[in-house]
Amino acid sequence: MKGLILSGGKATRLYPLTYTRAKQLIPVANKPILFRVIESICAAGIDDIGIVVGDTAEEIKSTVGRGGRWDAKITYIQQNNPLGLAHAVKVSQDYLGDDPFVMFLGDNVIQGGISELIRQFQESDWNAQIVLTRVEHPEQYGVAELNGEGRVVQLVEKPKDPRSDLALVGIYMFTSLIHQAVAEIKPSWRGELEITDAIQWLVEKGHQVFPYVHRGWWIDTGRPGDMLEANGMVLEELTPVIEGYVDRDSEVDGRVTVEKGAEIINSVVRGPTIIGQRSRIVNAYVGPFTSIYHDVTVENSEIERSIVLEHSVIRDIPARIQDSLIGRNVTLNRSPMKPKAFKMNLGDYSQVGIL
Ligand code: G1P
Repeated sequence: MKGLILSGGKATRLYPLTYTRAKQLIPVANKPILFRVIESICAAGIDDIGIVVGDTAEEIKSTVGRGGRWDAKITYIQQNNPLGLAHAVKVSQDYLGDDPFVMFLGDNVIQGGISELIRQFQESDWNAQIVLTRVEHPEQYGVAELNGEGRVVQLVEKPKDPRSDLALVGIYMFTSLIHQAVAEIKPSWRGELEITDAIQWLVEKGHQVFPYVHRGWWIDTGRPGDMLEANGMVLEELTPVIEGYVDRDSEVDGRVTVEKGAEIINSVVRGPTIIGQRSRIVNAYVGPFTSIYHDVTVENSEIERSIVLEHSVIRDIPARIQDSLIGRNVTLNRSPMKPKAFKMNLGDYSQVGIL
């Protein structure tokens, strides 16, 4: 069985962070989401993985590499236009050959991995298996309707009147029959070849499509709020370790991870929280659900429920920073120069919320 990870797309809802970084490489709890996806596929015993890439191909290739660090073999597949999930399967057909495969969206974070699911599919003679979960707003997703025996009878992409609250999670298992389905379908109203339509084609032709209803949490990290939510969920599951230095004047609780080379000086850090390699927290407060990535400085400031990326500096900020996503090499400080004012140098699409 092979793995296929979709890692293209422009992620406009996460601008400005995604102007300069592929969305799938944004870390949650200090590990890129894409690495978490690769790890969950490897944990299910699959070591032959294809990654479909688009505009951000170079960054993804140079960060992920050939797969050696996971003992896996990674093949990159270029998708020049983001024309839908079924289109991604189409461009991957040569790579996939006749093998069954699991397809996983590279920006999804799911609790508990997929090993159980893969085992179920491998032991079955099903043509496809989809992962479903109950959601509050099914109209925003692909929605499945099941019959009394639990078999999938209908799938509709973003229906106006959803027939159930079971949404398609971005994880799918297929045999090679899916290639035939993908070849038969036409683009949807949004101009994309929808995988939902391809699976619906299988259903209509009488093939065996079964669901797996996922009961833990699942987050599709489309917007900044989702990123913070996923970060909090993953932090809660982390086993804390202190590998860096915590001085005697600091108070660091049992749910905090301090990575190698990090220093906590005269500060209070409350978990679940992670402080990345070589980062310095000085005379500061870092509250729950915060991920401070590598080489960051937080000094004379307070921050909570936020993600800060590498090489950023937060110094002498008079109010607590909360619910924030801060990119790389950002400087946030007080300016000693008159006039006394907010002086900002923000990229396009930045969002600043002031008290
Ligand atoms: C895609 C699928 C949809 C699924 C969703 C999960 O939607 O088309 O069926 O529910 O991923 O994240 P998109 O993110 O392309 O709108």
